Amino acid sequence: MNSFIKIPVWIFELLTSAKSFSDNPIIGSPVLNRFGLHVIRLLISHGVMRTRMWMLALPISAQDRKSYFKNGYIVKENFLSEADFAALEKEARNFKGEVREARQGDTLTHRAVLSPEVLQHQSALKKLFSNKYFSQLAHFAAGHFREPLFYLEQVKNQYCQGATDPQKTFHNDTFHPSMKCWLFIDDVSESTGPFTYVPGSHKLSWKRLKWQYKMSLDARDATNNLHARGSTRFTDEDLKEIGLPEPHSFTVTKNTLVIANVFGIHRRGDSSEKSTRLAIWGDSRTNPFIPFPGFGGKFINEMQYYFLGLYRKRVDENAEKKGVRSPWRVIGPDEK
Ligand SMILES: [Fe+2]
Repeated sequence: MNSFIKIPVWIFELLTSAKSFSDNPIIGSPVLNRFGLHVIRLLISHGVMRTRMWMLALPISAQDRKSYFKNGYIVKENFLSEADFAALEKEARNFKGEVREARQGDTLTHRAVLSPEVLQHQSALKKLFSNKYFSQLAHFAAGHFREPLFYLEQVKNQYCQGATDPQKTFHNDTFHPSMKCWLFIDDVSESTGPFTYVPGSHKLSWKRLKWQYKMSLDARDATNNLHARGSTRFTDEDLKEIGLPEPHSFTVTKNTLVIANVFGIHRRGDSSEKSTRLAIWGDSRTNPFIPFPGFGGKFINEMQYYFLGLYRKRVDENAEKKGVRSPWRVIGPDEK
């Protein structure tokens, strides 16, 4: 496709979660960003998402609501009953379904999709997703009625040769509020690369807006590819400039639920040794310019896993054609 034909697509993307400064010349335009394009997208999307969260806040306890709005995260220890967690842990540790692997720096991440189809044979995992308050928390934090995409995830620190894991640099995932959550099945200590979050960094303070404005002027030319593509990277000096507090490491015991707004600045903590951590991981990213929390339900949930499956298949086929490793390749039972 030549550039002329792509112009309507690039313009349309301004009203979506598209974030790449380097792939969309309008989003990345230094001239338009000098006139405030990036900052306007930030302000509108944050206003819309905040409204959507309030629309779904009614069933959420005051304490959880306050924590999410104040810190950017919710932590709930002993989330499941002892018996339910024991059953879930057993099922998760003996999981036999399809597992995919990504390699980032010296970290391997293994993920198994927990679609309704997969859950047919996993009663304890299925029970977690029928937990009403869990769903309500996820909807509230994502500002959307659609369920997050859920996976069984094992992070394997220092399991391969490579440079530094890019997830271990402070960054935000999106320019707008979006959510990720973990129900930890392993205890998480400093040695297992704990999720690390800068409290309050999900807020659009004046200092943060100024920093984002400056960043947007040359982000498209950044040497860090992830930064140029909108997963903005932050140095320790940047955090000081924005006036943020010390980061918090989520060293937690198993059966702790952590829900985070990943516009907030975070990273995977450094691991002091070869180590793994297992969790149920959820991810929800929706269009932040639609002023309603959308639709949810069984059918929409099934559809999103169906489309995820198609997308994964297409990526696998493209990688095979090029003779390269698929970024999320299916692994054999002996590689788990
Ligand atoms: Fe991230």
